[in-house]
Amino acid sequence: MKAVVIRTFGDPEGLEVVEVPVPVPAPGQVRIATEAVGVGGVDAVIRRGTLAAYGFREGHLLGSEVAGRVDAVGEGVDASWIGRRVWAFTGLSGGYAERAVAAVEDVLALPDSLTGADAVTLGGSGVVAHFALERARFTRGESVLVRGAAGSIGITAVQLAARDGASEVAVTASSVGRGSRLRDLGATRVLDRSGAAAREAPPGFDVVIDVVGGPGLPHFLDRLNPNGRYLAVGVVGGQPPADFGMRLMDAFRRSLSFATFSSDTVPGPDRQAVRSAQFADAAHGALRTVVHEVLPLEQAALAHREMDAGKVFGRIVLTP
Ligand SMILES: NC(=O)c1ccc[n+]([C@@H]2O[C@H](COP(=O)([O-])OP(=O)(O)OC[C@H]3O[C@@H](n4cnc5c(N)ncnc54)[C@H](OP(=O)(O)O)[C@@H]3O)[C@@H](O)[C@H]2O)c1
Repeated sequence: MKAVVIRTFGDPEGLEVVEVPVPVPAPGQVRIATEAVGVGGVDAVIRRGTLAAYGFREGHLLGSEVAGRVDAVGEGVDASWIGRRVWAFTGLSGGYAERAVAAVEDVLALPDSLTGADAVTLGGSGVVAHFALERARFTRGESVLVRGAAGSIGITAVQLAARDGASEVAVTASSVGRGSRLRDLGATRVLDRSGAAAREAPPGFDVVIDVVGGPGLPHFLDRLNPNGRYLAVGVVGGQPPADFGMRLMDAFRRSLSFATFSSDTVPGPDRQAVRSAQFADAAHGALRTVVHEVLPLEQAALAHREMDAGKVFGRIVLTP
């Protein structure tokens, strides 16, 4: 079968389309004939070699999120899965391929009316948005800032905050056009994404959901209201300055909180329950997914070039 591997770490040109053996599902796994493969920011981080210290090697087959039809099951898995259209999390490898395997507990049946492209746009990121707002103890009437809102996590966070009664849903965006697309999804205020933009912001926010991190993080930390909660869910802009925690100590009397959040810490069944509800919402239009572009699997390098150039709004999907 066709698959995309990292021939050499670095630029997207280091990705290569190769022929590899069709995987055989291990006990507890299903195999999926893929119809859609999500291209995530973490794929770019792995491709650059940034995570080599965590055991990622050249030759790695990228991809963590697929949709398609189950065509085989491993030992111990109910054969009734065969033939069903599903979304699946494949771990941090194996998705950019014509067939992928996943543990059955990471597989979810899809509503008939939900496309594979929509499923891989929402499946992984929607639960991050949901549980990030929950961990931040967001409640109706509070103001929210979503930093890095134009990715699939932010797009869902904006919609959920608006739907659940935020008094303000501010976002950062790198252009007027991207900002107005976010307004269509529920944002009420658009800030320039540089830290300086915080000066244009209202005095403060009760909750910040931050996909970006990077050098600008302290500016946004300063904009928390008393008792405000700041949740770091991603680092697409790199790590924040090492001493950023001093901002919290300097603001001691304002009772601010900073936390990281990974959906890995949410029990699997809870993630699946929320994902299932979000898929149902997306199928009947109550939640919007934004597919930036659908490209053939062979054009994975182009997808990564577009990601690196900051051109993507939503998510790119590959189709084998
Ligand atoms: N916490 C979890 O459980 C979890 C799970 C999965 C993934 N993640 C993490 O989430 C991140 C990917 O999320 P995503 O796919 O939603 O994001 P994304 O699409 O990669 O980026 C979101 C937006 O951030 C803005 N941005 C990018 N670089 C920036 C920079 N240097 N400074 C300021 N803004 C910048 C861009 O919008 P503009 O150009 O409009 O500013 C971009 O569209 C990764 O860090 C990944 O590891 C976390």
